[in-house]
Amino acid sequence: MSLSTKSVTAVVPAKINLALAVGPVRVDGFHELATVYQAVGLFDEVTATRRNPGSGVTMTVAGPEADAVPCDATNLAWLAAEAVAAEADVVPDVHLHIVKRIPVAGGMAGGSADAAGALLACDILWRASLHRERMLELAADLGSDVPFLLHGGTAVGTGRGERITAAMARGSYHWVFALSDRGLSTPRVYAECDRLRAGAKVTEPVIPAGLMEALLAGDPARVGAELANDLQPAAISIRPELDMVLEIGRDAGALGAVLSGSGPTCAFLVADDEAALDLAVSLSASGLCSGVARAEGPVGGARLKDG
Ligand code: C5P
Repeated sequence: MSLSTKSVTAVVPAKINLALAVGPVRVDGFHELATVYQAVGLFDEVTATRRNPGSGVTMTVAGPEADAVPCDATNLAWLAAEAVAAEADVVPDVHLHIVKRIPVAGGMAGGSADAAGALLACDILWRASLHRERMLELAADLGSDVPFLLHGGTAVGTGRGERITAAMARGSYHWVFALSDRGLSTPRVYAECDRLRAGAKVTEPVIPAGLMEALLAGDPARVGAELANDLQPAAISIRPELDMVLEIGRDAGALGAVLSGSGPTCAFLVADDEAALDLAVSLSASGLCSGVARAEGPVGGARLKDG
């Protein structure tokens, strides 16, 4: 990479949670989690372009949902650029351009993915050469899911989701996603989860052994049967039609159906391309979702775009 490099582009995947066990609220207000993430092949692109001294950070977003994305310091990618600049001891004069394909506020960590992309792109642009560990710390400060988007693959997340350990996983999985054009607020879904569980004893979250065995065996049917998300009842309580969306997948013979993260995206594991196509048709015909996407997982984490 030459000193005069003006622009660097990172490509970052979306994530789903194959399991999301939500434990008690901690003193910092976050919930203790035990989750299994998988990175899936829906990608955002983040391009960081050097700007003239004194220009500061600017941002543009392209894509069908671009209007729903803030282009200011409330965007995690903006904060990521500032964090790398502070580490590299440079003034953050940079333009960030995001090509947005991951659903916005959909429970697939689109905002976190852009933060991971901005960390990587700015690290290269400013030749910060951050150590992997430091990069993961900056990522964790930005959001619970950001370290996983740097890591990719299939991994266990503990703490508030930011402590990542690679999972022993085999095989490739076909996913169908039912999208919604109305996002769900993550804090609101966690708050609803607390409300529904008020008075009940909430135990420490554990990674389901059955899911880990199924992943080790690379058996999609078993993985499908083990999909689980403690936030699902809360999201359904806020948006009851999500239960019907999940039901469509079960009726259509999906190997598994689960809310993705805090929703509203619903994720369906299917056996092959044909099953994916059939389910996509049923979901589209239902009128209950705004669109359908398909992807395979696992894929790698944030990487530089070739060329
Ligand atoms: O870490 P992140 O910024 O993605 O979290 C967004 C919100 O989701 C938090 O402000 C909190 O309300 C909720 N959250 C939580 N426990 C976690 C992760 C997220 O309560 N482990």
